[in-house]
Amino acid sequence: MSEQKGTPRRKIRNVHATVTHDSARKHVSGTAFYVDDLPEPSNLLHCYIGTSESAHARITRMDLSAVKDHPGVIEVLTADDIPGNNDISPVHLHDEPVLAGKLVQFAGQALFAVLAETRAIARQAVLLAEIEYEELPAILDIQTALAEKSYVLDPHIMQRGDAHSAIANAPARLQGEVFTGGQEHFYLEGQVSMALPQEDGDMLILTSSQHPSEVQQLVAANLGKPENAVTVEVRRMGGAFGGKETQASQWAIIAALMAQASGRPVKLRLDRDDDMRSTGKRHDFLIRYDVGYDNEGHILGIEFTHALRCGISADLSGPIADRAMFHSDNAYFLPNITISSYRCKTNTVSNTAFRGFGGPQGMVGIERVIDAVAHQLGLDPLAVRQANLYDKTGERAITPYRMKIRDNVLHELIAELVESSDYEKRCRQVAAFNRESPVIKKGIALTPAKFGISFTTAFLNQAGALVHVYKDGSVHLNHGGTEMGQGLMTKIAQVVSEEFQIDLDRVRITATNTGKVPNASATAASSGTDMNGMAARAATRKIKKRLVKFASKKFGVDKSDIKFIDNHVQAGKHELSFAELVKHAWLGRISLSATGFYRTPKIHYDPKTSSGRPFLYFAYGAAVSEVEIDCLTGESRIARTDILYDAGKSLNPAIDIGQIEGGFVQGAGWLTSEEIWWDSKGKLGTHAPSTYKIPTCGDIPETFNVQLWAKGRNREKTIHRSKAIGEPPLMLAISVHSAINQAIASKLDGNSLPALNTPATPEAILNCLTKK
Ligand code: MTE
Ligand code: HPA
Ligand code: MOS
Repeated sequence: MSEQKGTPRRKIRNVHATVTHDSARKHVSGTAFYVDDLPEPSNLLHCYIGTSESAHARITRMDLSAVKDHPGVIEVLTADDIPGNNDISPVHLHDEPVLAGKLVQFAGQALFAVLAETRAIARQAVLLAEIEYEELPAILDIQTALAEKSYVLDPHIMQRGDAHSAIANAPARLQGEVFTGGQEHFYLEGQVSMALPQEDGDMLILTSSQHPSEVQQLVAANLGKPENAVTVEVRRMGGAFGGKETQASQWAIIAALMAQASGRPVKLRLDRDDDMRSTGKRHDFLIRYDVGYDNEGHILGIEFTHALRCGISADLSGPIADRAMFHSDNAYFLPNITISSYRCKTNTVSNTAFRGFGGPQGMVGIERVIDAVAHQLGLDPLAVRQANLYDKTGERAITPYRMKIRDNVLHELIAELVESSDYEKRCRQVAAFNRESPVIKKGIALTPAKFGISFTTAFLNQAGALVHVYKDGSVHLNHGGTEMGQGLMTKIAQVVSEEFQIDLDRVRITATNTGKVPNASATAASSGTDMNGMAARAATRKIKKRLVKFASKKFGVDKSDIKFIDNHVQAGKHELSFAELVKHAWLGRISLSATGFYRTPKIHYDPKTSSGRPFLYFAYGAAVSEVEIDCLTGESRIARTDILYDAGKSLNPAIDIGQIEGGFVQGAGWLTSEEIWWDSKGKLGTHAPSTYKIPTCGDIPETFNVQLWAKGRNREKTIHRSKAIGEPPLMLAISVHSAINQAIASKLDGNSLPALNTPATPEAILNCLTKK
């Protein structure tokens, strides 16, 4: 029973603490369960897909009889066999089927599915299909799509002031373009789903998705069932990076259709090559600019044209194109600006979310403009960046979409980074080195990133949580967010355990499940912790409030005299363990379970006028990268990178530094080595690690200094004043690309900056060096 209060207790500090990722040991010891590691039901069947050979064609004959007759094959499914709406469109446009019917729109599009006793049999049987195509003209690149006005969504224009006149009247003017390549997500765990039929025709789906509730919705619609007949569970993903925000559902649907047809559990796991061919990537962008500026490099007027490859359907291309527009200013005040955005429809796989969600592409545009202006004026690009930075308040702190920036920390943050990275001295050293070295050339660049936090689709900014306290005082934590390696589960457990003042290991992290928290948004837009942290804390506080009320009555003390501290509860001079109080409360018939809900405050946006406050706040960081290029081979390497990032009051510095390192290296891969290539028939050539080069440990900067900004604190009331971190660090890798271009420029000694596109592969670098 209750003891007298003894020695003073110390508050448990689980937030702002370096806590190990809950799965870290399981990841490295191979004991973390991914869908393909789960125990298989004894009657499990396996499914595989047959895909289109052609980029755009009418199917004149599809004979699947040999497939059906293959020993071990149980079922073959085509578009005609789908009871529901045969649609995977996440935005209700009905513009992309689960299985194509008579019309195929890209090479790699799923046409039919085979169910068999083993995965090997299913894959062998797929090869027996006889399909004849009547080829149709295919649009395979952005330029052709633009010329033919082939769009998945209408073009959109955002503007402020009169860019046209400002450019015309400016002392100097530059025009140019930069192309940013696509990017394959290359999550280590590929797309996979297991569908398990339940009683009454219900379906349980175990999948690798950032968006279980959308999988639930789309599986239900395709099975022709209500959403309450489908439950989706995700314990973790082996990486997602946006690639499983919408594009896990197709495979879950096919597995579910097969499970429904056969009445047996079905697993579908894509082979890496098919995963690369049949799922979308980062959008490549063609960015054109026309800029007017003064002699100090102030940008007076600018026009951007964005044209992005969306592939065959809208998927998330609308909000991605929007986010690119929202970030075409990056950190700079652009008084007169017009941004036109063309969402191109091509006969290639439908592109999708990828870390940064269009933001990185938008930022590459403006960072190139700044570099080009600086080069033209013979100024240090950093000086031009600083001259154009948003002010902290006033007229020059308002974005093109009329959002007032209230939290600009870049002036201070950049100044600190310049100091800590020894930027100025190293610029001189780089110049001196380049004067002496004809073959190896160095470059150095500092680029900032300002990234808007919130889903730009306002209604997605909501989250739910479910917390149970069991009789022994152990806690079961559930929320709508999903774990993809980013440490979300650990951070939310930190929040809940701190709130209850119990040890972290008393809080059990559980799989995300649509039956526990309904209608959740995707874990995306870097807002997983911001939103689910608040929802989980709200649920925790509800239970705490009930416990306080109960204890106040039981011990006859005022509610304000009840304290949760160090696994104990103090009620006046009484003290008992958290578990004891919980036990009493249970005996006293107090509910020990609660839901929590959160909606992001203050945000609003009107797409018609392109104005409002789409973001609750901005995340900021800056990086200095120093690179070397070999002018004979075109190879490059990152000698050193220094990063300073504002994570607010970081919930978990170790996890946050991991996110910065990973995000930066992923960005460097996008900008230097990861090249997506289709042949003239629209077939993906780069469909395996043999032809698609992601960074390896040898590609990380030789010296890599990553710091969280010590003064960081979110001025908005986010969870423990932390700031989002998932995506923004990727954009700090623009410093690498910019530095490579500086290195090339130092060799060329020309008047204009080289037109280096992304990725800066050895081939691209050599092309710049030899073209002039
Ligand atoms: N980190 C790891 N390890 N694996 C991932 O798949 N995805 C990124 C980022 N960091 C990802 C990751 C992307 S695209 C987003 S939007 C955020 O994590 C999502 O998680 P959060 O909102 O909890 O930060
Ligand atoms: N980010 C990520 N995913 C999204 C967004 C966004 O801004 N909007 C809709 N889905
Ligand atoms: Mo991240 S691209 O918002 O999943």
